[in-house]
Amino acid sequence: MRPFVFVNVAASLDGKISDETRRQIRISSEEDLNRVDELRAKSDAIMVGIGTILSDDPSLTVKNEKLRARRILLGLQENPVRVVVDSRCRIPLNARVLDQRAKTIVAVSKIADKEKIEGVKKKAEVLVCGDEKVDLKCLLTHLKEYGIKKLMVEGGGTLINSLLAEGLVDEFYIYYAPVMIGGEKAPTICDGKSFAEKIKFKIVSIEKFGDGFLVRAVPLVSR
Ligand SMILES: NC(=O)c1ccc[n+]([C@@H]2O[C@H](COP(=O)([O-])OP(=O)(O)OC[C@H]3O[C@@H](n4cnc5c(N)ncnc54)[C@H](OP(=O)(O)O)[C@@H]3O)[C@@H](O)[C@H]2O)c1
Repeated sequence: MRPFVFVNVAASLDGKISDETRRQIRISSEEDLNRVDELRAKSDAIMVGIGTILSDDPSLTVKNEKLRARRILLGLQENPVRVVVDSRCRIPLNARVLDQRAKTIVAVSKIADKEKIEGVKKKAEVLVCGDEKVDLKCLLTHLKEYGIKKLMVEGGGTLINSLLAEGLVDEFYIYYAPVMIGGEKAPTICDGKSFAEKIKFKIVSIEKFGDGFLVRAVPLVSR
């Protein structure tokens, strides 16, 4: 058993989610940022890979005060749980995601440095799943046991690739901004290795959204 897993990313028309610097760049419009905030507020947890933490240092919290207040009214924590997929426990101890605004789970593998784990444990919960890479199925099973029913994945492309390859994605939202970023080495929605067999999707909807458009699609291999 695992949570319902959905991915949300903002991309350029050429499918890039950042440029060659791999730093966070503004791709979303204001309207899209509000839509993402709503999705966050309706999720039990938000997950990213360590690449995203090292590049962007996101706080992964709900920005809109009213949305946070609504969560409290519903008997929830102000912010969803934050989950970082980090085999080697490379997360900086001053990462924003380790602040006290929400609970954080750092998922590591058996190769992670024990001393570093002890440091992270002072700020977050550490879950050991997998021998080298984080075993995503093991992680999702644990998250379900923690009571996480709806998990939002915000990237990056390497983590998304693994989740898709293992059939662990139920739904996909891509906001396409009307820009091209270019760059052979710029990260894309789905990096990592090409799939042995291409993954097919059913398009649920395509809507014009602000200046760009929003695609909602369902992979046909999730399990
Ligand atoms: N536009 C957007 O919506 C958006 C959203 C998020 C990120 N981004 C951009 O995406 C880029 C970061 O993406 P990224 O692909 O470099 O990093 P990522 O997907 O955030 O993290 C990938 C890392 O996670 C770790 N990991 C551990 N177990 C894994 C597993 N089973 N499968 C996959 N990864 C696993 C690996 O590092 P270890 O082996 O060291 O654990 C891996 O290198 C940045 O440029 C950021 O700005 C854009």
